[in-house]
Amino acid sequence: MSSDSLAKPRWWEHSVIYEIYVRSFQDSNGDGIGDLPGIIQRLDYLRNDTSDSLGIDAIWLTPIYPSPLYDYGYDVSDYTGIDPAYGSLDDFDRLAREAEQHEIKIVLDFVLNHSSHMHPWFLESRSNKQSDRRDWYVWKDPTPEGGPPNNWQSVFGGPAWTLDEPTGQYYLHSFLPQQPDLNWRNPSLRKAMHDVVRFWIQRGVSGFRLDATAFIGKDAQLRDNLAVAPTSGTSGLGVSYPLRNMNHPDMHDWLRELRHVVDEDGIERFLVSEIYDLDDDAIALLHGSEGPEMSMSFNFELIGCSWHAESYRNAVESFSDSLPSGATPNTALNNHDQSRSISRFGADGCGRERARLVAMLQFALPGATFIYYGEEIGMLDGVIPPDRIRDPVGLRSLDKALNPGRDPERTPMQWSSGLGAGFTTGEAWLPLGSTAQEINVELECRVPESMLTLYRSLISLRTTQQALRVGQYRAFDDVPDNVYLFERDSGSQTVLVALNFASEPRKVPIQSWKSAVVLACTHVRQERERIEGAISLRPLEGVILEHSS
Ligand code: NOJ
Repeated sequence: MSSDSLAKPRWWEHSVIYEIYVRSFQDSNGDGIGDLPGIIQRLDYLRNDTSDSLGIDAIWLTPIYPSPLYDYGYDVSDYTGIDPAYGSLDDFDRLAREAEQHEIKIVLDFVLNHSSHMHPWFLESRSNKQSDRRDWYVWKDPTPEGGPPNNWQSVFGGPAWTLDEPTGQYYLHSFLPQQPDLNWRNPSLRKAMHDVVRFWIQRGVSGFRLDATAFIGKDAQLRDNLAVAPTSGTSGLGVSYPLRNMNHPDMHDWLRELRHVVDEDGIERFLVSEIYDLDDDAIALLHGSEGPEMSMSFNFELIGCSWHAESYRNAVESFSDSLPSGATPNTALNNHDQSRSISRFGADGCGRERARLVAMLQFALPGATFIYYGEEIGMLDGVIPPDRIRDPVGLRSLDKALNPGRDPERTPMQWSSGLGAGFTTGEAWLPLGSTAQEINVELECRVPESMLTLYRSLISLRTTQQALRVGQYRAFDDVPDNVYLFERDSGSQTVLVALNFASEPRKVPIQSWKSAVVLACTHVRQERERIEGAISLRPLEGVILEHSS
């Protein structure tokens, strides 16, 4: 690998990565399912030369591969194909070409821990104990008493083992029985997965999001977990403790091997791991403390915050404090497994104001920013009647009205107030959000105070202001209760970010600066308003200020 190419600035270091839940983004053929030609139609919305576009740098596509859909694409039956519902390889190639013209990178979801039970590899593996591919999955005899080999639990509930009666052995599935775990200890399986990433890199992909990364690291002897804690979290993605079913240190060797493969032609590519509940050592390792591994590990800390300035500040700083020097931090407020942020913190009716405030926080912080389709217009969780639930977490839920699973955050993108919300001319695969009349792109494009206008202006500010791009972060302690105040200082420019998380006004001294001008605000203020000595913030107001002499 030439050191020259690796010395160039990495495109993701200050990027905005937009997650597209492909099935729900844009349907182009009226079957009610989002698809690749639909994404092509919306590239201009995502980025073009005008100030009317969002200005993102990359799209992360949820799985587009053929799948029997037990876990809506996270059960892959062919790693190098496109599910016909989403289009064809030709459509993918066109997307890659057109995305490049729009200067948008493509990041694919790589479901590396498990395949579908319909994948030919698994069919072959289960066909007999002598199969060459038997060891590509995790098989084990029953215990002498005749039960599952150990006490591991599946993330979606119940034992992580299913008996295959014809061969008399159990296979492991950390998720659904229809998602058998691949055996990353097997070198030929790893080689086959390397060939998968090569295939997509040759088709123009710039990186991968590694689904459920921690689960590839299993105890070599498949020993019991010592105790099993109840599953936690809003989406059923809880885990068992202490963990022998995940995070085994050997996985870092396999991740470094994968890093080597994705960079083998001398271009450093983007890899982001999905791992919950990371400790500091694991964060450091993933970010390269022992050699190139991930470009970053998806940061879930902000998603778990309670509504208080201190909670957000702690989350930001605890993550970045554990990074080795030179590593890129990242933030996210939403993804396809979590209730949408406005719904999460909006029970008192102030969700929209809060979402504006944390959007300002997110875009003013160093590093990469992940946003989830619809977040930029302020989409809420949809309401899913029990008979329309598709997500396996919802289907397994005992109280489907109370816990419908993850479909609420996956409802179709709200493009307009017209029929099908501009998403489809047919019947959408999931119910449209009931807010589509008021919360949609077409409407918000024209409203200066809309969420979309705020997102566009914050993304643009982040690219045009040097301090927001590369400035050092420093937070201030001596601030009124429930205010988060920090600066970004690039040497030639300093900006101050003042965020009032309180439901009452706050007066915040602007440090040693005598005066400053407002660059951006979550509320209406006069353009480039001049501030002297202290800034008065309204409830849930945030501002970005620039020093002025
Ligand atoms: C994590 C993904 O984000 C989630 O949607 C999926 O169900 C599991 N991994 C299993 O692949």
